Amino acid sequence: MQTRDLTPVIGTEISGIDVSALEDADFARIRQAWLDRCLIVIRDQHLTPEQLCDFSRRFGELEPPPASEARKRDEEAAEMWVISNVVENGKPIGALGSGEAEWHTDMSYIPAPPSASVLYGREVVTDGGNTWFGNMYVALEELPADLRDAIAGRQVNHDSTYTSAGDLRKGMSEVVDVTRAPGARHQIIRKHPVTGRDALYLGRRTNGWVVGLDVEASDRLLDDLWAWCTQDRFTYAHTWSPDDLLVWDNRSTIHRRESFDASARRVMWRCQVRDEIAA
Ligand code: OGA
Ligand code: MN
Repeated sequence: MQTRDLTPVIGTEISGIDVSALEDADFARIRQAWLDRCLIVIRDQHLTPEQLCDFSRRFGELEPPPASEARKRDEEAAEMWVISNVVENGKPIGALGSGEAEWHTDMSYIPAPPSASVLYGREVVTDGGNTWFGNMYVALEELPADLRDAIAGRQVNHDSTYTSAGDLRKGMSEVVDVTRAPGARHQIIRKHPVTGRDALYLGRRTNGWVVGLDVEASDRLLDDLWAWCTQDRFTYAHTWSPDDLLVWDNRSTIHRRESFDASARRVMWRCQVRDEIAA
């Protein structure tokens, strides 16, 4: 197994392994790299849906996809679903389309969001469609003192109305007052349950609300925090090769996806892992 850091702050590339036949000691190294580096990029994997689920399950029990994606699950592996813009017989085969997916953390609108998200490139695009990741430990460590003071002890309400692609979820109605948006509240400075390190935890910008502030003050503070944590120096942009397998720590990172040509084909397989705190 070879490893190579992708940037000083986030991401380690791992090569020379087959994750469908991993010794426990090798998995332990992979898991540690995932915790330490927040994102791992494992090259050249050849996995069936079942093998993807089996590998993902080594990180913990699998978390079912959001309700809106349930119908897109692959029948061969019930816990896997598809991220894709491809339309077959008039129906999308997966989620998120070809537009931009705004900066977000997966499913932060539930009380115990997933620990790991696993994304496996089957058909990829290289013109657009890059996936960006940001390290929220470092964004917090380097946060200017005035912003740090402004968030001390505060929570954000994480809205569940829209997908990261900006689509209204099934059965949801548009939010007119962010102070009443459905979702979950989390501390803005959130302690990672495994590493014990504090990270900035913002979820996504859309319909975010800093609990207890008037909406104007909350919007200003959230805009400042998002402008801070999405600076290039905290991030890595992944250009996909087929057979890349990415695993990110959903508690210490944010990610976004660039838009791409709607007529190109992009197909990814996806699993996510339930956090230990949800058990
Ligand atoms: C996800 C996601 C981005 C991408 O799967 O959670 O945000 O690049 N995907 O498809
Ligand atoms: Mn996501």
